[in-house]
Amino acid sequence: MKISLAFDVYGTLIDTGGVYDALQKKVGDKAKAFMETWRSKQLEYSFRRGLMQNYADFSVCTRNALDFACLQLNCNLSEEDKNELMSQYNILPAFGDVEESLVKLKAANCRLFAFSNGSAAAVKNLLQNAGIDHFFEAIVSVEAVKTFKPNPAVYDYFLQKTNTAKTNAWLISGNPFDVIGSISAGFRSVWVQRNPTAIFDPWEIKPTKIIRELNDLIKVLELE
Ligand code: 2OP
Repeated sequence: MKISLAFDVYGTLIDTGGVYDALQKKVGDKAKAFMETWRSKQLEYSFRRGLMQNYADFSVCTRNALDFACLQLNCNLSEEDKNELMSQYNILPAFGDVEESLVKLKAANCRLFAFSNGSAAAVKNLLQNAGIDHFFEAIVSVEAVKTFKPNPAVYDYFLQKTNTAKTNAWLISGNPFDVIGSISAGFRSVWVQRNPTAIFDPWEIKPTKIIRELNDLIKVLELE
C-alpha cells in the first residue's frame, strides 16, 4: 500500500523567511525581530481561534499578526506598506532542498500532499509561484473543517480527504507544534530540523524521525 506524505507548507516547503528583504526595506534593523514576532503571533492567533471555535481564514491571522508586530516594534507602516508585505506572503520561495527531494519521493511511489492552515487557493498560489505544485496529488486545507492545526479534527480530515489509513500516513513538518499535534492524533511524523539550534518542545511526545534536510526523508522512510 502506498504511503501518504502530508507536507506542512509554511516553514516546511515554503520559507517564511522570504519576507526578510521586503521587511528590511521598511523597518531596517528591526526586520529580524519583526519577522519572528509576525510568525509567532500568526500561529498564536490560529491556535486561539481554533480553541475559541471562531475560525477566520489563515490570512486574517497573518494580517492581524502583522498589525501586532507593528505595534510591538513601534513601526509606523502605512496601509500600502502592509498590503505590500501581505502580497509578499503570497509569493514566498520554496526551500532549496524541496524540488530534489520531491522528485525522489515521487519516483519512490509515495502519495504527496500539501497540508496546510492556509486556504487551498492561497497554498495553490504559493506552490505554483514556487514551481512545485505539480508534485502534489492534492492540496488539503484546514479551511474545510473551519479550525486549525493542531486540532485532531484537521488530521482526521486529511485521512478522510485523501482516503489514507492512519497507519499509512506521515506528517512532514518543520514546525514542532504540527509534529506533536499529528502524533497526538495517531500519525507518525518527521520533524525537519533545518536549523541545528531549533528547539523541539520538551514534551513527552517526540518526533518519530528527525531529519536535517528534506533530502534525508527518503532514507528515514526506508524507501530507497
Ligand atoms: C501550515 O502551513 C502554518 O505551517 C503551518 O499549516
